[in-house]
Amino acid sequence: MDADVFDSVLSTVKRFVRDEVIPRESEIEETDDIPAELVKGAAELGLFGYALPEEYGGLGLSIVEDVELAFALGYASPAFRSLFGTNNGIAGQVIVAEGTDEQRARYLPAMASGELLASFALSEPEAGSDAASLLTTAERDGDTYRINGTKRFITNAPRAGLLVVFARTGAPGSGAKGISTFLVEADLPGITVEEHDQKMGQAGSWTADVLFNDVTVPAAARVGEEGQAFRTAMRSLDRGRLHIAAVCVGMADRLLAESVTYAAQREQFGQAIGSFQLIQGMLADSKTEAYAGRTMVRDAAQRFMKGESTTTVAACAKYFCSEMVGRSADRAVQIHGGNGYMRGVPVERMYRDARLFRIYEGTSQIQQIVIARSLLREAR
Ligand code: CAA
Repeated sequence: MDADVFDSVLSTVKRFVRDEVIPRESEIEETDDIPAELVKGAAELGLFGYALPEEYGGLGLSIVEDVELAFALGYASPAFRSLFGTNNGIAGQVIVAEGTDEQRARYLPAMASGELLASFALSEPEAGSDAASLLTTAERDGDTYRINGTKRFITNAPRAGLLVVFARTGAPGSGAKGISTFLVEADLPGITVEEHDQKMGQAGSWTADVLFNDVTVPAAARVGEEGQAFRTAMRSLDRGRLHIAAVCVGMADRLLAESVTYAAQREQFGQAIGSFQLIQGMLADSKTEAYAGRTMVRDAAQRFMKGESTTTVAACAKYFCSEMVGRSADRAVQIHGGNGYMRGVPVERMYRDARLFRIYEGTSQIQQIVIARSLLREAR
């Protein structure tokens, strides 16, 4: 996108976040839902398709622009970003990268406008970190596949019209080599989306179990070659992990802003607590770490754009930034003292919201494994 146009998109989104989303964060928390006006506003801003190609109605942002937008979105309640995160990220990028022209034309325009939400259905009750061990099956039957199994913690599933489903087409135990992807319309007979989960944080962002009981899809619903989908999932997650790292930086900025404001106003021992060096130390640590995270994300995004292999740098960024925002949230609560432990205070909510970043799209331990394995592979 032209730099001036992108600057204008970014400032409009920042304004929307500040003027519309932040004032309604308590409502999102209390209702566990996103107000209809914010959904409409997001659609008007093109946020349901910011990373989808322009030819299909998206804004066509590059990964370098995507992370700048994510810094801005991360500043507000993560449930807002999550609403359109799967369309642009892990689910949408599978269709962009591997879909046929027909599949792209059928789904991407509706996704870009916000009319259609897509979910990425990889995780299962017995296959979380070990994604290659998934048990959902897709049995070929002439021109169709029959899908059976259970998917777990599927973000946006209760709102989704399209499920990007990873299922085993190979023999049981075929591991990463026996998995295929299917574009499954959520209203097909045999699909049950359970009530959304009750989570520790990130209220308003819905995850749920999805059950497939003899769900029949045409063979044309398969994305890419049979048995090649594990790589597809991993590539999509590489990009997704970098985006999440950027969201963490955005939240770290907000935590710091809340902490600085509080430290400047709150008085103890006859002066603002910000004048005490032990408080200053915490502010400085949070600032330094947020800066390191932002720099890392920008560097990884540049490498992505240049076509370098990004698996390791995306894992490094996700690992560092998700751990970093956890430390930042902890300091923010500490700076706020007893007030920071009270419901309704933004840092208390963010402390709970931030906890998920170290778990989803690959835990910190999975990122460590990805990073170390690639170092050892290079050494060999
Ligand atoms: N890009 C391309 N190919 C890749 C790849 C990548 N990033 N990572 C792995 N592959 C390929 C490998 O090269 C290998 O291919 P060959 O056999 O041809 O060499 C194949 O995929 C299998 O790879 P591994 O042997 O490394 O597989 P593994 O079983 O040991 O597992 C893992 C690898 C990194 C642990 C992986 O399972 C993983 O990332 N687990 C975490 C799962 C995860 O992140 N889940 C998130 C779910 S979605 C979510 O949270 C979002 C949400 O809804 C909010």
